[in-house]
Parts: sequence; C-alpha cells; structure tokens
Amino acid sequence: MRMRATAVAHPNIALVKYWGKRDELLNLPAAGSLSLTLKGLQTRTTVVFDPSQDRDLIMLNGRSVVGKRYDRLVRYMDYIRDISGTNAPATIYTENDFPTAAGLASSSSGFAALAAASCAALGLNPTLSQLSAIARMGSGSAARSIYGGYAEMLPGVQEHGGDAYAVPVASDVHWDLRCLMVLTTNHEKSIGSTEAMNHTAQTSPFFDAWVDSVPADIEEAKTAIMDRDFDRLAKVAEHSCLKFHASAIASDPGIIYWNGLTIQIVHKVRQLRKEGMNLFFTIDAGPHVKVFCESSQLAAVKGILRTIPGVTRFLVAQPGPGVMLEDEQGRLSAPWPSKR
Ligand code: PMV
Repeated sequence: MRMRATAVAHPNIALVKYWGKRDELLNLPAAGSLSLTLKGLQTRTTVVFDPSQDRDLIMLNGRSVVGKRYDRLVRYMDYIRDISGTNAPATIYTENDFPTAAGLASSSSGFAALAAASCAALGLNPTLSQLSAIARMGSGSAARSIYGGYAEMLPGVQEHGGDAYAVPVASDVHWDLRCLMVLTTNHEKSIGSTEAMNHTAQTSPFFDAWVDSVPADIEEAKTAIMDRDFDRLAKVAEHSCLKFHASAIASDPGIIYWNGLTIQIVHKVRQLRKEGMNLFFTIDAGPHVKVFCESSQLAAVKGILRTIPGVTRFLVAQPGPGVMLEDEQGRLSAPWPSKR
C-alpha cells in the first residue's frame, strides 16, 4: 500500500452561508450552502502513515501543532483510520500560503487537502461525493472545496449523513468573478465556527428563521450564477451573509465578528453598488470582508477600497479548481471519478 500522498486544495467562500449543524458528531449541516472555490490561495498537505510511529505528528507552516487544534486533527485522523481499517499513526505536513484561522476559509482547503491526501496514501478510492462527505467530517465547508468553481452543499436527510455532501453547480470557467479579500486585522479569530454555530443554535431566537430561509436563497443564487446575473447574486449573497451574522449576533451572549473597519467596508461597497459598480460583500466567521466583483472592475474596486484609512492588505483570488493530488514530480491531477 502507498502510505504517502500529497494533495493541493483551495479555500472556498460561501455565497449562501452554512451556519449550524443538525448533528455535531457526524458534522451534518442544518441547511445547505453554496460557494465558490478560489485559486490564488492554497493549502498543500502531505500525509505519511507510519506504523512505527507512536502518535500523530502534525506540522502546520513548519511549526508543530499542539493543544485543541492538534486534538481536533487527531480525532479526524482516527475517523480516517476507522474507515480505512488501519491503525498507523501519521505525520502531516501542511502549508497554507495565506493566514490560518482568520476567517479566510483555511479549514475548507485544509480538510479538503487532508481528506484527499489521506485517502490516496491509504489506497482508498472514493468517488468525489464520497470524498466530499469524508472532508465534511473535518469541516462542513471543506466538503465544497472538493469541487472547483461553484458548488452546492446538500444537507441530506439521512441520519448517518451518507447524503450530506457537495455537488458541482458550475465550473471555474463559467463566470470569471474576482474575490478581493480585504484584511481588517492581523489577529486570529476570537471564536471558532463550530463553537459559535452551536452557541447560535442553542441561544439565538433567530436561528430557526435563519435555517428556514436557506433553501430559497440557494435556489436564487443558483439561478443568478447560471444566468451570470451579477445584481441578483449580489442581493442574495449579501442577504445570506447578514442573516447568518444577525442570528449569531442575537445569541446570548452575542457573537460579533465585525470590527469598525469591517462595517466601513460594507458601507463603501453598498455605496459603490448604488453608484453603478458591480460588486458585493460577504463576511465569514472573522472580521475580514470578501468583496466580489467582475474581473474588469478589480483594479478600480481595489483603488477605491485602499482609500479607507486602515485598509492596507488585500488578497486577490479567482474561481479555481477542485482538490488535486500531486505526484513525486510535482504534477497535479484529479484522479477521482465523479460517479461510479
Ligand atoms: O467549515 P466550518 O465549520 O469552518 O464553517 C464555515 C462557516 C462559514 O465560513 C462562516 C460559512 C461557510 O459556509 O463557509
């Protein structure tokens, strides 16, 4: 058996958000979601299973992972060992070329790459839907990064979650949007998404209303994407983002991910759209703002946002491919068939 493999994955940003679980143990979402996988940012992960090791070793950006993050990754590797019938510990080397745990979707690319590299190293041969469900066990959003371009997460109805995986909606070349990530702080996020979404589900009076609103938003966003209707997508994406944050803010005690700069950028984006530019914002479990626009307007949008005092750092991303394996010569390929 090949015990070593490397995978590369890109983060995705949700246009219709995922916020809340119907089963915490199996990491099943309470509702669907819809996202765009982005190249320009990436995670590269090598997994080596070695029966002579006494425990998992995990290196993130060259540093040994410890504490809660280590425990979470070991739990995930235990799940992988369970489904593959091995008990060999692993060494994991993972590199993000963008900030980790800052609300920039590093867990989406992280668990997509880890799932793919682990399966390949252990000789598992899942279909893409199965791989998506395997990635979901690590992080709900990771299920979507298995696919390039626009992907929909299906919440599923089965108790064991076999029907909770992502499916492709449109490829990365369907609509050439740009995502400008405007960084508003250098700090890691204050409260992780799992803890925050469970707290929202348990204490927010708005949680059920939020969950009920998701399916219609997904249909609306899918239509907007298929028609390349920017204004339609802008409206539904901003609404979904604000509804998810509203449900979190209404928790007890409330979870507020935004800082002052976050709000200033939101207002600026809305003002520019009113003036006729094609752009919209979205915000995840952190204070940064992701501004989507058409590629022709990227330079202009960047130029204007840069004039907001405090805005200094941007990351630019565009629709990208799904998860891929890297061979020893550094060649990338997507070896999993979508159906079998
Ligand atoms: O995949 P998780 O557990 O990190 O949750 C992601 C939650 C959001 O980023 C806020 C929304 C989403 O759909 O990606």
